[in-house]
Amino acid sequence: MTNLADYVFHNVPAQLSPLEEFLDPFTRAELAEIAPAPGGRFLDLGAGGGSVTRMLSEIAGASGTVAAVDQDTHMVAPAPNVSIHTQDLSTGEPLPAEGPFDLVHARLLTHHLENRVEFVHQLAGSLKPGGWLLLGEFVRSAPKVVSAPSEKHAEAFVRVLDGLYDVMTARHTHGAWGHEVHATMLDAGLTDVRTQWHYQSWTGGGHGCRLFENNVSQKRDAMIEAGFDAADIDLFLASMHDPAMVVRSHEFVSIRGRRG
Ligand SMILES: C[S@@+](CC[C@H](N)C(=O)[O-])C[C@H]1O[C@@H](n2cnc3c(N)ncnc32)[C@H](O)[C@@H]1O
Repeated sequence: MTNLADYVFHNVPAQLSPLEEFLDPFTRAELAEIAPAPGGRFLDLGAGGGSVTRMLSEIAGASGTVAAVDQDTHMVAPAPNVSIHTQDLSTGEPLPAEGPFDLVHARLLTHHLENRVEFVHQLAGSLKPGGWLLLGEFVRSAPKVVSAPSEKHAEAFVRVLDGLYDVMTARHTHGAWGHEVHATMLDAGLTDVRTQWHYQSWTGGGHGCRLFENNVSQKRDAMIEAGFDAADIDLFLASMHDPAMVVRSHEFVSIRGRRG
């Protein structure tokens, strides 16, 4: 079972800011299409740094509500229409906010949960008729170097990123889950289910490479304990600042479905 101690990363701005810079445009585009109405009842699960909670709060307006839930809520900014709940979502316990909801959002949460399939069913059941479930996940794909200052840099990147994914998998993170969400939403009775995939190039020094750097920095000790070479990891970390290093980003999938 996942709990605060078990979650693979710590919520820090060095991780969550570049994450938001990468993902917020995709989430904003989904919300523009879904067009939830002002005055709605919204839920943001695994709210993290709170950027999507803020988007939902703006849409909800004075007559709507947003409940933001995370096991670690210290980075979620309060607002008059936002209630903040600290809860471990892996336990199967009832959600801390009362539904039914017009929109339930969870980005990069459910691939960390062992109870992910039951959780999607629970979320589908928490929607109003016509309400939307919007999930975003990273899926594990082969690390890819687009351009590197040397073969050594390129090889270190592939080994270290694969090593990071292995360490995450050992801590419950399910790298293929994002590919299973669409079918799980259909099983849960949702309609209008749609998946979109997003990935892009990240150049050393940019927001994406800062995210890779933070992910690997947070897991450096665990990777060395698991037998990875410290010099390889440090070459990887330094290369994330080098504009000559260009790599493929994490692969993000955005999946949405509606209660009929
Ligand atoms: C990678 S961050 C994503 C944050 C935010 N949703 C975003 O996309 O910007 C994952 C979030 O899920 C939360 N989380 C992980 N496991 C959790 C659990 N079992 N219960 C509640 N929150 C959890 C973490 O605390 C973290 O805020």
